[in-house]
Amino acid sequence: MDKFVVKGGKRLEGEITISGAKNAAVAILPAVLLCDEVCRIENVPEISDVSVMIRILYELGAKVKMINRDTIEIDPTGVGSCMVSADMSNRMRASSYFMGAMLGRFNRAKVAPPGGCDFGVRPIDQHIKGFEALGAKVVIDNGMVDAKADQLIGAPVYLDKVSVGATINIILASVKARGMTVIENAAKEPHIVDLANFLNSMGADIMGAGTNVIKIRGVRSLHGTTYSIIPDQIEAGTYMVAAAVTGGNVLIKNVIPKHLESIIAKLVETGATVEQYDDSLRVIGPERPKHCNIITLPHPGFPTDMQPQMAVLLSVAEGTSIITDSVWDNRFRYVDQLTIMGAQIQVDGRVAVISGVEKLKGAPVAATDLRAGAAMILAGLCADGVTEIENIEYIDRGYSNVVEKLNAVGGDIKRVNIPPQNVIPQAL
Ligand code: EPZ
Repeated sequence: MDKFVVKGGKRLEGEITISGAKNAAVAILPAVLLCDEVCRIENVPEISDVSVMIRILYELGAKVKMINRDTIEIDPTGVGSCMVSADMSNRMRASSYFMGAMLGRFNRAKVAPPGGCDFGVRPIDQHIKGFEALGAKVVIDNGMVDAKADQLIGAPVYLDKVSVGATINIILASVKARGMTVIENAAKEPHIVDLANFLNSMGADIMGAGTNVIKIRGVRSLHGTTYSIIPDQIEAGTYMVAAAVTGGNVLIKNVIPKHLESIIAKLVETGATVEQYDDSLRVIGPERPKHCNIITLPHPGFPTDMQPQMAVLLSVAEGTSIITDSVWDNRFRYVDQLTIMGAQIQVDGRVAVISGVEKLKGAPVAATDLRAGAAMILAGLCADGVTEIENIEYIDRGYSNVVEKLNAVGGDIKRVNIPPQNVIPQAL
């Protein structure tokens, strides 16, 4: 077990380079199963969610070769199994994508329900609705989602909720189905466009990704490809807030500014300066942020995955701010941890009312999920004193080299090992 120890009060200054997008990588890796040849994936982030994905691919029979820190070569031709067990599946939400990928390849998939951050109910009814529209029979048997079809036939699917996961899973299942599939009310996140571009680079025929109507014309086979994953929108947003909340001046490199429009708009509203360049942007934080209100929405609205990070900035802003999370019904569990540090936040269901305070105070806190953990780091960076963060395995799921990246711009964060509690120290 490790923890982060963060010393606050330093303005961040310098350059941070963003890694590949977690939520694109965890969709693209299972998608390799649909291919009949070797695929080379570049700009893969060094995060534990990717390690779990690679382990699942390996256990399914794929050959996986690490070319270097961020490049992987995968040969899916030896994959024979169509089952992902609970002990692997429940370690992340994106394991559900193996359902769509294996259904698309084998007309069969047996996957234990996915895990992932706990924001309340995270159903997969829209995923199953899509599989059934394509002709699959889906049963939940003995704790496994078991989907099978004689032949997947393209069909129209209207999503009752805008769902990233369901959109991705239906794309994966329909890429080699017979005929045309049309997903209406589809999610438009950058990682969906990246998955579609990856599949099309292998010979798939997907149109409209990034809009709310995506058409997938089934093809018979997919050939190998070399593909580079887009930069991570949420990692970039997190470090943008780090610059703003410390009153710093940071050049964030390897970004796609178009993916960050809502985050830029909100940071500017709080008084930050954001200078945009082709593939980078500079964030200059104000002496003290101003309050603003935020409603999280599916892309291109303000991303829910940036909600905890913005709550930290608004905790030390002048005035009162309101955050409404329209995507998740219980994504404010981190507020208790921020309150320990002196934040003044009232939560009622999907709404948090934040009364800004001058300063947060360092304290021992815990990460309650991936983005909440990132928010705790931001709180520690701007607080007076020292903040110790436990449960940092959540953070390692989605942020590569966070200690190195922050210390390179003047932050003061260390990863410290915590010996197991039940071990009585040896007598010296
Ligand atoms: C993806 O989760 C992301 N995870 C989440 O990011 C992100 O918060 C979320 O999309 C929204 O952007 C990955 O990409 C691995 P949804 P997902 O299906 O696919 C409801 C992070 O921090 N819904 O878009 O699980 C659902 O309850 C993670 O990187 C159904 O009702 O989210 C929610 O209210 C955390 N039925 C809404 O739709 C379904 O079958 C959006 O969920 C599916 C979803």
